[in-house]
Amino acid sequence: MSFLYIKSRLHVSSTEMILCILFTLVAVPAESANILFATSFLSVSHQSVFQPIWKELSLRGHNVTAIALNPLHDKTLTNLTEIDLNYMYAQKKEVSKKWLRYFLEKPGFLQVFLKDILITYLFSIMHDNYFQQPVVQNIINGDQEFDVVIAEWLFPTLGAFSTRFKCPLIGITSLGAPIPALDSVGNPSHPVYSPDHNLPIGRELSLRDRILSTLYAIYVRVHYHLFVLPREDKTVKKYFGRDMPYIGDIERNISLLLLNRNLIIHKIMPVYPAVIELGNVRPIKVHKPLSSELKDFLDNSKNGVVYFSFGSNLLSSELPEEYIQAIIETFAKLPYNFVWKWEKDVLPGKPKNVFIQKWVSQTALLAHPNVKLFITQGGLQSLEETITNHVPIIGIPSHSDQTMNVDTAVKYGFGICIDFEDLTVETLEDAILRIMRNESYKQNVIKAEKLMNDLPTNGLNKAVWWIEYVIRHKGAPHLRSPALDIPWYQYLLLDVFALVVPILVVLIYIYYKIMKWLILLLKNCFSKNVKTKKE
Ligand SMILES: *[C@@H]1O[C@H](CO)[C@@H](O)[C@H](O)[C@H]1NC(C)=O
Ligand SMILES: *[C@@H]1O[C@H](CO)[C@@H](O)[C@H](O)[C@H]1NC(C)=O
Repeated sequence: MSFLYIKSRLHVSSTEMILCILFTLVAVPAESANILFATSFLSVSHQSVFQPIWKELSLRGHNVTAIALNPLHDKTLTNLTEIDLNYMYAQKKEVSKKWLRYFLEKPGFLQVFLKDILITYLFSIMHDNYFQQPVVQNIINGDQEFDVVIAEWLFPTLGAFSTRFKCPLIGITSLGAPIPALDSVGNPSHPVYSPDHNLPIGRELSLRDRILSTLYAIYVRVHYHLFVLPREDKTVKKYFGRDMPYIGDIERNISLLLLNRNLIIHKIMPVYPAVIELGNVRPIKVHKPLSSELKDFLDNSKNGVVYFSFGSNLLSSELPEEYIQAIIETFAKLPYNFVWKWEKDVLPGKPKNVFIQKWVSQTALLAHPNVKLFITQGGLQSLEETITNHVPIIGIPSHSDQTMNVDTAVKYGFGICIDFEDLTVETLEDAILRIMRNESYKQNVIKAEKLMNDLPTNGLNKAVWWIEYVIRHKGAPHLRSPALDIPWYQYLLLDVFALVVPILVVLIYIYYKIMKWLILLLKNCFSKNVKTKKE
């Protein structure tokens, strides 16, 4: 009896076990996807937006392969494989040094166009170099399979991975998107109310700005289609094989475009359903601790601290000498303490009230109660961090979206903008004193922070949700913009105008003639009537 009982128990449990195994076999591939996250732009601030996303995807059980310029190297993330390309920064250093002077200047009218030629060219060199790397070659030629490719989308080239792995493509940026990237999802970008984010213009456009923006919007597309795409197509075919489709067709197959646009910092613009605005992706309140030396310096700065950093791309120690001297002289004059992110061992002529450090845990520093002002180049990540920590800014913008970002701070009343060419002891001293002596800057940054964080969810959750959406539905063709499937002359209504305008002209002419005739007729009748009455 008991034997039978045991046998039946055994029987049941083995069925259960088989069911269990079957379930896991069926359930795992449905829930956990193979994700390729490919990034290419050598910039810590860009990478800092992507890192939390690939980390979170791996924590949710996806098998994530990240081609990372700044890998997390976190051994606890067992579902994450990071392809380390950090060594490529060494190559970039040489290029940046050469072009620094050029990036510092706010470009003039014509320089804006030349800059686009230069930057797209540098991007092309970078991508060719990128695909050459043995670790990237291993991915291209390997036998791994992916369910979705997430590609940094300042440029279309990485989209080739999605064709290689025959899976949906998601574009992502750590800031807004340039016009060609918006075009790839068919999103409108009006030159006056949503100008390209790389233009060195503020929120309010003067007539000169509107002309610049309009010409740029036309020029950038012509250049992109005539030169940039064919060049990238060559690169793609060189590394992925001759039979790859045209990169201009691949980019239009994109399922979603995730932009790290922040509704407070960026100028608002119309977005299609396939464009997701993230914002606040990084956990700013979580930070690495300050060095004890720096912490002591901050604790003992009773008059307040001004923090000065140009971020990770533009090294302040590489600035032209006259700027460095002006900054040193200003800091020495003022009754505050200064923390300067200075990338060398010594700062010749360093005043007593200045503390230098090569790398600073910026979020921790901004969170310190004695830090009252941040002098920044106006990068998006720095702006998010300073708003979160209620620290007003002096913005000295130099390239890409920085002019627009700093203008936001000016608009909300928590910042002052100084252009590089205006950077002198007088302008800097005046700006520092104005903010340090006036409480309203602080009040305004608090207001901006309240607005910025009043959202149903943060950018990280949003990103993960939408990526999983594309995985669940194997793409999102139903979100595709109809603008992508009509020829450009139809999009611009050229055929409609070509037909309607001549007809309208003829109709108006006929109408004019008839009216003229009618009026003449009335006039005649009227004058006859008057005449007969008089008689
Ligand atoms: C790895 O993925 C599995 C599911 O595939 C999940 O159960 C586990 O928690 C993940 N581990 C980590 C450390 O993220
Ligand atoms: C675009 O996506 C569709 C469906 O996934 C696929 O059949 C087609 O080959 C893709 N085209 C290109 C150019 O990648």
